[in-house]
Amino acid sequence: MQPESVEQPMELVPNTKLSALLVLLSCICLAFVSATDTITAAQLLNDPETITSNGGHFKLGFFSPANSTYRYVGIWHADVSLSTVIWVANRNKPLNITSSGILTISDDGNLVVLDGQNRVFWSSNSTNTVPNSTAQLLDSGNLVLQGNSTGSIIWESFQNPSDTCLQKMKISTNIRTGKKVQLTSWKSPSDPSIGKFSAGIAVRNLPKVFIWNDGSLYWRSGPWNSRIFIGVQNMTSVFLDGFSVVDDKEGTFYLSFSFTGETFPTNFVLNAQGNLQEKYSANGENWEVVWSALETECDVFGKCGAFGSCNPQDSPICSCLWGFEPKNTQEWNRGNWSRRCVRRTPLQCERVKNGKIDGFLKLTTMKVADLADWSADDDEQCRNNCLQNCSCMAYAYDAGIGCMTWTRTFVGSYFG
Ligand SMILES: *[C@@H]1O[C@H](CO)[C@@H](O)[C@H](O)[C@H]1NC(C)=O
Ligand SMILES: *[C@@H]1O[C@H](CO)[C@@H](O)[C@H](O)[C@H]1NC(C)=O
Ligand SMILES: *[C@@H]1O[C@H](CO)[C@@H](O)[C@H](O)[C@H]1NC(C)=O
Ligand SMILES: *[C@@H]1O[C@H](CO)[C@@H](O)[C@H](O)[C@H]1NC(C)=O
Ligand SMILES: *[C@@H]1O[C@H](CO)[C@@H](O)[C@H](O)[C@H]1NC(C)=O
Ligand SMILES: *[C@@H]1O[C@H](CO)[C@@H](O)[C@H](O)[C@H]1NC(C)=O
Ligand SMILES: *[C@@H]1O[C@H](CO)[C@@H](O)[C@H](O)[C@H]1NC(C)=O
Ligand SMILES: *[C@@H]1O[C@H](CO)[C@@H](O)[C@H](O)[C@H]1NC(C)=O
Repeated sequence: MQPESVEQPMELVPNTKLSALLVLLSCICLAFVSATDTITAAQLLNDPETITSNGGHFKLGFFSPANSTYRYVGIWHADVSLSTVIWVANRNKPLNITSSGILTISDDGNLVVLDGQNRVFWSSNSTNTVPNSTAQLLDSGNLVLQGNSTGSIIWESFQNPSDTCLQKMKISTNIRTGKKVQLTSWKSPSDPSIGKFSAGIAVRNLPKVFIWNDGSLYWRSGPWNSRIFIGVQNMTSVFLDGFSVVDDKEGTFYLSFSFTGETFPTNFVLNAQGNLQEKYSANGENWEVVWSALETECDVFGKCGAFGSCNPQDSPICSCLWGFEPKNTQEWNRGNWSRRCVRRTPLQCERVKNGKIDGFLKLTTMKVADLADWSADDDEQCRNNCLQNCSCMAYAYDAGIGCMTWTRTFVGSYFG
């Protein structure tokens, strides 16, 4: 199930010396006409032509995914032999292999994918277009539609992503308008149409990364502590350094990553099975997965139900936290963990006071539960406030975040 293998009609020149010569010649010839990285109304792209970004890192053109006879307009890495499509235009409306596709600028200034009969299969759909606009494929992998080189950006692929996040691309959410820029999975490795998984950030008190399965929570990171997302395995390693979350103070939170000094192509891809993976190519030939959001079953959100703890090395993988027992032992023993665990003994403040006070059970190597309340309390205040409040179920303290408390159903997930 490798989405990487795509057919690239323009990549069939076997002799590298010849192709270098051809590139050189075409550069010289085209230098007098116009740049090779742009599309205009006069300079359209006919299937199977491609254009290449200025520094040679990305190509834009028509492709067919493996085992597909449909034609799509996409962007892929030009500097890795095992090519990976990082963006698809007409993903939900493919062209037939025989339909002589065209990528051009329409009369209204939008970037459009047409078939041989000039029927529109995809449009950038911007309402603030200008006539004679130009689309340019930048070396970052961003396809940008502009009125002129100094005019503002009318539309860009980085704000309309498919399943891949590249360096410097901004995944975002606006907590006031609900507007989101997020990744959406392909249906299958041979079908780029919008699948059932999406990934992005959400902010409820604290920013976190989420994967949704048909809109329900499938995976989430721990909260952002201004340097890393806590509770994410290997987040402190070199592979996962270089993230930033920016709050523009107008309701939008932007997540992006950028590795300084990193010259290898690196992507985060939400695959058709809903796994978010970081891939990089050190050798320019193939891709190596260096991180996966979902490594084991335990990474699936709420696998063991409330007050359950999941350990992939245990059999069965689910157990109740210390002091808790399965709500329904029969179902639990059958491997149905959806009914959750309940407290063996009620907390002191839940029954008649008899002078005893409750204490805390310290849990380590756990990912913190979802839906935390937040305060700026220090570690000690955080503990005391939770202890004195009967509706407080748990607390956690992280120097970069502050005090997190949980009053609702507590869903823990084993980690590590
Ligand atoms: C593609 O071709 C098939 C068979 O010729 C036809 O049934 C189908 O409607 C075509 N699809 C599009 C999108 O034109
Ligand atoms: C563009 O707008 C048309 C008509 O509203 C809609 O059918 C189509 O899905 C839109 N395309 C994109 C890429 O948003
Ligand atoms: C757009 O380009 C066409 C052809 O090059 C030219 O005739 C026309 O004046 C241009 N329109 C604008 C608004 O610049
Ligand atoms: C570029 O476009 C902007 C608005 O889109 C316009 O104000 C400006 O005059 C244009 N510059 C040139 C050189 O055409
Ligand atoms: C394409 O089809 C072959 C043969 O059925 C299969 O082995 C391969 O996994 C398929 N590739 C994709 C990406 O679906
Ligand atoms: C974390 O790194 C270790 C060692 O490199 C690796 O075995 C493991 O799969 C990584 N975990 C994730 C979630 O990628
Ligand atoms: C698990 O238990 C829940 C609650 O009793 C029930 O609705 C569900 O059908 C059970 N699932 C399986 C796979 O038995
Ligand atoms: C207990 O915690 C809840 C939720 O954080 C809060 O609404 C409530 O005011 C607290 N009660 C007391 C007595 O502090």
